[in-house]
Amino acid sequence: MGATISGEVMLKTPIVVVNLKTYKESTGENALKLSMLIEEVARKYNANVAVCTQHADIFRVASAVEIPVLAQHIDPVSPGKNTGWVTPDSVKSAGAVGTLINHAEHKIPLEQIKKTIEVARQLGLATIACAADVEESRDIAALGPDMIAVEPPELIGSRISVSKAKPEVVTGSVKVIKDVNPKVEVLCGAGISTGDDIAKAIELGTRGVLLASRIVLAKDQRAAVEDIVKGI
Ligand code: G3P
Repeated sequence: MGATISGEVMLKTPIVVVNLKTYKESTGENALKLSMLIEEVARKYNANVAVCTQHADIFRVASAVEIPVLAQHIDPVSPGKNTGWVTPDSVKSAGAVGTLINHAEHKIPLEQIKKTIEVARQLGLATIACAADVEESRDIAALGPDMIAVEPPELIGSRISVSKAKPEVVTGSVKVIKDVNPKVEVLCGAGISTGDDIAKAIELGTRGVLLASRIVLAKDQRAAVEDIVKGI
């Protein structure tokens, strides 16, 4: 039986979170098609999955699937006189149930992570904060996101899995996060490519993975999703 994270939000673990990033293969209609495929496969294997889309695709995807849809980033900005920012209210009304924050490709200062977690929590949006290493995992754990995904930046987009290449970063992060705040669930990501990489991530003490290129850029996306999702 998996754990359930955050107020009105349902992110059950163990979980595979697929970050669609800004690849052409996962933008617009492609985001929709891939999210529907991921949902179909998740149902087949009774697995917990979530997709993390670009802001412009949240409504389109969330209107068509029942799996959780997450934003890739939000700004801790209130509704009102704020042109060009991504408000938590806007992603929520578009259908997102949570957000990634501080991804290696969109880093923000610690103070902003703190504010974003607070605003998201008020709205019932789940937060998955990314951390590059053990030290950052410790700092972010003190801010109390729902989940921390530890991702060594140098392995992102490679086929070298963090769970195999840098197990000490994963176990080290699990330890400091649980010491600081046992409620925070830990994921890992970067280079996750096979069901075996996921099994190893779980063995190291995480409750799931965050991944992108192995699925998004696969020649046969269905086969890639099957391989990954059945691993959880
Ligand atoms: O957010 C997931 C990520 O940064 C890892 O990317 O392509 O190595 O699975 P990838």
